Amino acid sequence: MPRNNFLPFKLLLITVCLLDYCSSLEIGETCSSNSNCDAGLRCETCPANGNTRPRCTRIQPLSPTSKVKGLPFNHYSWLTTHNSYALSGETSATGSVILSPTNQDDTVTSQLSNGIRGLMLDMYDFNNDIWLCHSFGGKCYNFTAFQPAINVLKEIQVFLEANPTEIVTIFIEDYVTSPQGLTKVFNASGLSKYWFPVSRMPKSGVDWPTVDDMVQQNQRLLVFTSISSKEASEGIAYEWRYVLENQYGDDGMHAGSCPNRAESPPMNTSTISLVLQNYFPTNPNLTEACVDNSASLIGMMNTCYEAAGKRWPNFIALDFYQRSDGGGGPEAVDEANGHMTCGCDKIAYCQVNATFGTCDVPVLSPPPPAGLSLVGNSQNSGNSPTNGSLISRLVRLHWLIGAIFTMILLLWL
Ligand SMILES: *[C@@H]1O[C@H](CO)[C@@H](O)[C@H](O)[C@H]1NC(C)=O
Ligand SMILES: *[C@@H]1O[C@H](CO)[C@@H](O)[C@H](O)[C@H]1NC(C)=O
Ligand SMILES: *[C@@H]1O[C@H](CO)[C@@H](O)[C@H](O)[C@H]1NC(C)=O
Ligand SMILES: *[C@@H]1O[C@H](CO)[C@@H](O)[C@H](O)[C@H]1NC(C)=O
Ligand SMILES: *[C@@H]1O[C@H](CO)[C@@H](O)[C@H](O)[C@H]1NC(C)=O
Repeated sequence: MPRNNFLPFKLLLITVCLLDYCSSLEIGETCSSNSNCDAGLRCETCPANGNTRPRCTRIQPLSPTSKVKGLPFNHYSWLTTHNSYALSGETSATGSVILSPTNQDDTVTSQLSNGIRGLMLDMYDFNNDIWLCHSFGGKCYNFTAFQPAINVLKEIQVFLEANPTEIVTIFIEDYVTSPQGLTKVFNASGLSKYWFPVSRMPKSGVDWPTVDDMVQQNQRLLVFTSISSKEASEGIAYEWRYVLENQYGDDGMHAGSCPNRAESPPMNTSTISLVLQNYFPTNPNLTEACVDNSASLIGMMNTCYEAAGKRWPNFIALDFYQRSDGGGGPEAVDEANGHMTCGCDKIAYCQVNATFGTCDVPVLSPPPPAGLSLVGNSQNSGNSPTNGSLISRLVRLHWLIGAIFTMILLLWL
């Protein structure tokens, strides 16, 4: 009977699957591929930090509005990508090779699905259209031109259409001089209907409208430009009238100091309600990004909190946001969101409808129980990678023994 002969092989496959390929691993656990890790994690090393063991690292923040609902927009923090469109390994849509430095390694669609809610886009007049270029001297060339801006704007449009409670912010480094150039491309992309009007942006340091209000009015797209005159001419908000921003590049990475960038008012300006923290080097560096996006990022967030008059960043802008040595950018925004939305150290500790400062901090897991208890494990799993990994290893061992036992039994039969 062929069926009986194949069954042990099937069970062997199932065993292998349970052991290595189909198990889900938590943050910090040793992995061999992305599919090993839990949702929202990626299998990474960080050799620049001496960490060559592939471990599951975070690439997605928690959605702060799913935990603490309905606050003013400026009471939340959003992970933001610097030069969101400048993807490694891309060729220019002109057909040319790209000689510009690159800052990210997944598409804007992928970034949005990972929870990125702030996008920094450099826009230029090019080829009778508006293009996303990582260029110099205010001019775009074939070898610095990534793609027409409308392509990426349409990706954002698709995301906002499919996710009716999400809010996205675009920061334009604006080199467009053609009349109504930005308005035309936003109109053509279908994004204008989500436009949050400049008239509703607070100008005296008060709270923004609530996220619920922005969702109800379908004003779920914030756009800021670096050209001040476009506020009057096209209704596009001049960024540094509404957003404080620290120095970008190497000069923004000196531990203990958080100066404003030249265009921004000082970080402690109380008449401006949004704070953006840049944290990336002058020359984007893929191998170094996992170091930058980890402990030193959190350190700078604390420095900038003080510099900004005890305000946490509403936007944290990074290169290679998926790279870290553990929690990375997602951990940083989760901490900012915890402090801002519920007065706890992380958004995960916030309780639904609790008074500010009432936190649900998980106690450190006790040593794994002698008997295997899946229920006990899952309650503390998020906070204790060591015990979590030990338990999941024991659980896998348990499965292995069970599967081998069944196989022997079947072979014997
Ligand atoms: C730039 O690319 C376009 C194709 O989009 C091509 O027609 C043009 O010749 C290129 N220019 C140069 C200087 O290579
Ligand atoms: C953009 O769309 C709005 C609303 O449909 C329209 O009033 C405006 O004229 C358009 N602007 C341009 C420059 O196409
Ligand atoms: C704001 O920071 C500046 C230094 O950048 C400092 O001189 C000033 O006193 C601060 N203002 C307030 C209100 O804290
Ligand atoms: C990136 O940083 C590493 C140090 O970690 C350095 O050796 C390398 O030259 C840098 N690469 C670039 C492109 O700057
Ligand atoms: C939290 O408060 C809202 C509004 O008062 C209410 O609708 C909701 O049911 C509450 N949720 C919980 C879990 O208490």
